[in-house]
Amino acid sequence: MCGIFAVTGPEQDAGSQVLKGLKTLEYRGYDSWGVSVREAGSNDLVVTKDIGKISNVNVPFPKGKEAVGHTRWATHGGVTVANSHPHQVGDVTLVHNGIFENYAEHKKRFLAAGSVFNSDTDTEVIGHIISELLNDGLSPAEAIRTACTKIEGRFSILVMFKDVPGIYAARRGSPLIIGRDKDQTFIASDIPAFLEKTRLVNYLDDDEMVFIEGGKVQFYDLDSGEEITKRDIEVPWKLEHAEKGEYKHFMLKEIFDQKDSIARAINHEDDVLNKAVELLKSSNGTYLVACGTAHKVCLAAEYFFSQISGRKINVVAASEVPYFERFINQRTAMVAVSQSGETADILEVFERAKARGAKLLSLTNVESSSVARMSDVHLPINAGPEKAVASTKATTAQMALLLLLAHADAGKINQGRELLSTTSSAINDLLNPRYEEHIRAVAAKYVDRPNMFIIGRGPLYPIALEAAIKIQEVSYIHAQGFAAGEIKHGPLALIEEGVPCMVLGDELETISNAIELKTRGAKIIGVSSENADIFDDWIKVPDAGCAQAIATLIPVQIFSYHLALLRNLDPDMPRNLAKSVTVK
Ligand code: G6P
Repeated sequence: MCGIFAVTGPEQDAGSQVLKGLKTLEYRGYDSWGVSVREAGSNDLVVTKDIGKISNVNVPFPKGKEAVGHTRWATHGGVTVANSHPHQVGDVTLVHNGIFENYAEHKKRFLAAGSVFNSDTDTEVIGHIISELLNDGLSPAEAIRTACTKIEGRFSILVMFKDVPGIYAARRGSPLIIGRDKDQTFIASDIPAFLEKTRLVNYLDDDEMVFIEGGKVQFYDLDSGEEITKRDIEVPWKLEHAEKGEYKHFMLKEIFDQKDSIARAINHEDDVLNKAVELLKSSNGTYLVACGTAHKVCLAAEYFFSQISGRKINVVAASEVPYFERFINQRTAMVAVSQSGETADILEVFERAKARGAKLLSLTNVESSSVARMSDVHLPINAGPEKAVASTKATTAQMALLLLLAHADAGKINQGRELLSTTSSAINDLLNPRYEEHIRAVAAKYVDRPNMFIIGRGPLYPIALEAAIKIQEVSYIHAQGFAAGEIKHGPLALIEEGVPCMVLGDELETISNAIELKTRGAKIIGVSSENADIFDDWIKVPDAGCAQAIATLIPVQIFSYHLALLRNLDPDMPRNLAKSVTVK
């Protein structure tokens, strides 16, 4: 949700470096973009910005050693050049990720005093506050610190001042990582922006600020202004992990990464898993919270725990948890599942649950994420960087780890490992060009249909819900998932001649439901281990026992990907969506 990136160093091409880094952050927002360069000689902060995807941009920048940039996912104010970042107010140029919740009251005060605004954004109001404080005689650092006391909400900002070399950044709630490479320093919302240059990082925590100039890096506490020291960390990521390589899209690359990501997800020592199990066992109520696709993973995990360890799990979408808050106390195990570990709704649940004394367990793909760092116990899912907005390999990694955890909870870790490594090998065999081509051909038959329905029962019901999300987000076809047994309670009324219905699984009852659909004119796409006469098309999946939900999701992902391609859409960047949703 908005990518921000800054460079300072000896090279005069900071503008192009920022543009290049921002392109790696495009998954965070792709409505519009902008870069500000401190022009060599004049010291002017020259802003270049436009609407549209940054991946298509190739423009020259003035020479300069320092630049900040932004790729936007619009919140306050439509997609216009004026609303794109950076924003300039007086000597202040800034970019912002997050939401300034109380901006309207400040804006009213400035308007009453005759200030002029060039955009509809909350960000420009921050610029006015900082500029006003500078005019009151505060130093740049003091002006930023004081401005931050006035901002409610989650945010991170990067600020440049005309005539003051260096770049300032502050964080409360939205990620910022500092990359250090001898005499060059970077600040980014995510590591891939500077991965080509360095793997040495510092993580900025909430209520901290940093000043960078060339190789100089100084950290401060945002409240007290006191200098602090931070630990240098070497990240294990390699550049090729964050690149498309031979694949046309990140989505396809990430689907094929599942050849080994599932094995990586379950590669945890017993004692790490047992720590998580202890946390569950010491509670008398377990909540599994997540958003979007990860929420569907949790719904599948509810079945895993029920079937394998007999534990009752309460699955709640993170945004709905406030309505159940009265049940959260010191005996609650609050478990968050999040690819990014930065989703605002989850962070809020964790903050409030912690305040009520709950124990926090998380599964994330980013070990340094805010969610991971707040947790009492954290289990990394080890999927590697996931760039496509539509989650694929992180989803199956989350499911695999939760399935293993359910086995650990039942005292059957080894059995869980065996099941998942067999499943992982079967998926490895499955992912080949012939299989992909077969699924593409099935997708081609139905690509022009306006509606699609997906049914499944047991752990395949959440997979039907997830299949619908995948199809919607990348192909824009209206898709809905249902519990197979529920179709006769309403959805059957939607069935007309030729409607494609994907049927997940081949249990007897599910096949009966498929017959009910077919009798009313539906075309049946079976996704199962066994073929059935009733299927118009069949996509085979390996028989994976308790891990069937994981195996079944793979062809569904490939099907969605090809629907998008057949409709000439970019599956990596669906309209209106962003990968990491850091606003509520
Ligand atoms: C967005 C992404 C989804 C993801 C959801 C939750 O909607 O497009 O793929 O499932 O956010 O994100 P998280 O990072 O918390 O898993």
